[in-house]
Amino acid sequence: THKIILDTDPGIDDAMAIFFAFQAPEIEVLGLTTVFGNVPVDMSAKNAITLCKLAEQDIPVTKGVGMPWVGPESSYAHFVHGDDGFGNIDFPAIEGQLDPRSSAQFIVDMARQYPGEITLVAIGPLGNLALALRLEPELPKLVKGVSIMGGAAFVPGNVTPVAEANIWNDAHAAEIVFAADWEVTMFGLDVTNAVRFKAQFVETLAEKNKKLGGFVRDAAQFYIDFYTKEGDERVCCFHDAFPLAHLIKPELFELTTGHARVATDELNRGATIVAPPGTTASPLWTGARKVHVATQVDRDGLEQLFIDTYA
Ligand code: BDR
Ligand code: CA
Repeated sequence: THKIILDTDPGIDDAMAIFFAFQAPEIEVLGLTTVFGNVPVDMSAKNAITLCKLAEQDIPVTKGVGMPWVGPESSYAHFVHGDDGFGNIDFPAIEGQLDPRSSAQFIVDMARQYPGEITLVAIGPLGNLALALRLEPELPKLVKGVSIMGGAAFVPGNVTPVAEANIWNDAHAAEIVFAADWEVTMFGLDVTNAVRFKAQFVETLAEKNKKLGGFVRDAAQFYIDFYTKEGDERVCCFHDAFPLAHLIKPELFELTTGHARVATDELNRGATIVAPPGTTASPLWTGARKVHVATQVDRDGLEQLFIDTYA
């Protein structure tokens, strides 16, 4: 099994991904570390506790970074995920205890406890990972790898023409994470935005799993409204589940490897600049390290994996 820490900002596709990880026998979730992003960090932590309780998962939940590395407080994505992060379904919060550690400290503690075993799966902005690198400069040696949902390598962004939301939200943190000496695999809009799940898909999740799938189905309606263009078929994207699917079934994906950096200037903020396949980065391009980038995914295989795992 894959030991993971899931770094998250729930969030509707976060919720779908968290339940997917809980349901997958191939994955052991050591804890949920929360961060600001779709919602403020307090709400993110509260939502993560509710999701754990609903799924009867007795694992640590930590509260992490509430602001970007540089710059003013972020704007949140309530217009995508609802005022509550769960599509305004008025789901009653389930009370529970937060682990007293910060998200970054928890990541460092777990990495020391299981050296070389943990994959950090980050499905929100990257502040907790950047801070963990500052707390423990040896962290890259202590973890197995880093899989992120974020970025847009060879396709447009979803916040600006060049930037995807998770990276845009904390570009400086992302640049620190991309520049560290570990294996980063990026599941960006190249693959996650390319797969549109029909409204029937969440109905199927709800049929297979009344409690968890039912929650996702209910929460997703607001999210589907956001994704659906007027008059078109109702669809949405489940970005955050992709890095998890790759852990379970890597054969569903095609990856390329290229030197990459994250832009932090105002105009290009959050752009993930990746050397295209077949090109080599100039030695003049300092600070760029190699990252793995998902470029293709088997959409039917992916959908089936989600459905089978929720069942
Ligand atoms: C990412 O941004 C958030 O809105 C989603 O939860 C996902 O992590 C997609 O750009
Ligand atoms: Ca997310």
